Amino acid sequence: MAGLKVLVTGARGKVGRAAVAALVAAGHEVRATDVLRPVYDADESNAVPYVQADLTNGADAFAVTRGMDVLVHAAGIPEPSKNTPHAVFLTNVTATFNLIEAAEHSGLRRFVNLSSDSVSGMTWATRRFTGLTCPLDESHPDLAHDAYGLSKRVSEMLCEALVARSDATAVSIRPTWVLTPSSYEDNLRPFFDDPDLPTAVFWAYIDVADLADLIVLAVEVDTPGHEVVYAAAADNIGGRDLAAAMARLHPEVPVGRLDRVDASGISSQKARQLFGWVPTRSWRDYLDEDGRALPSARR
Ligand SMILES: NC(=O)c1ccc[n+]([C@@H]2O[C@H](COP(=O)([O-])OP(=O)(O)OC[C@H]3O[C@@H](n4cnc5c(N)ncnc54)[C@H](O)[C@@H]3O)[C@@H](O)[C@H]2O)c1
Repeated sequence: MAGLKVLVTGARGKVGRAAVAALVAAGHEVRATDVLRPVYDADESNAVPYVQADLTNGADAFAVTRGMDVLVHAAGIPEPSKNTPHAVFLTNVTATFNLIEAAEHSGLRRFVNLSSDSVSGMTWATRRFTGLTCPLDESHPDLAHDAYGLSKRVSEMLCEALVARSDATAVSIRPTWVLTPSSYEDNLRPFFDDPDLPTAVFWAYIDVADLADLIVLAVEVDTPGHEVVYAAAADNIGGRDLAAAMARLHPEVPVGRLDRVDASGISSQKARQLFGWVPTRSWRDYLDEDGRALPSARR
């Protein structure tokens, strides 16, 4: 289903940039927006129409949403460690609220919301918290207590409200840690150097290109109501034996059925069932078994 008018918010960011490229490649008519200043000369950042907008401003949110079929919402503060809790919560919640209001009033067909695995309570918990089951999936309760995780939980509630009061449908994608070709080595090396170094969510990660593929599917496959799906690579960081690592580091957490020995600590089964999404990228495309960049992948 090519040719949809798709607005991508946060289009200058890690996820938004990849989403724009994937949506254009899939034949959609993409409009990009971000709070960052535009480039006024012709350059690659103007490959699709770009409008600067601060989405915490309602008028800006309404202006950029008008006339669009689908909205991919990737704008916001993507983690809580570099901004104050107030900035994180208020930016993310206000921007999403404004876009949901705009979506309702402009008759938008579908809202694709970039939520986060942090809704589970893992990743940014300020007190020690470990997920209750492994692999983590949508049956896990929403136990976020930090400003970022809560802002993402509220974003999902806002999507729930949109579909309740309009004909729009929505999907909230909960990506785990998003990696890019240039960020694999620096981010993952510590987990190769120390195989027992725990990560936020049971050694899960996702390649940005796989996430972009899922975003395209979520735009095109019109599931009813509001669905929530986790998104992770098929394997885990370093390819560890997940059951054995869980038994060593998190013996209190029950481990369910795993598709493979080196499975991710997050199950993306639901995204596969709803959208036919199968992640195909791995850290192995970029790193050797010691976590060093492959010569072919050097920056
Ligand atoms: N990066 C990850 O590991 C990760 C994991 C899970 C979920 N997410 C979610 O995915 C989304 C995108 O994350 P990312 O990694 O691309 O972050 P990013 O920081 O690279 O991009 C976010 C973009 O949003 C823009 N933005 C911020 N405030 C804005 C405002 N008020 N109005 C308009 N634009 C604004 C920023 O300028 C930036 O370009 C976020 O919602 C994040 O919470 C990211």
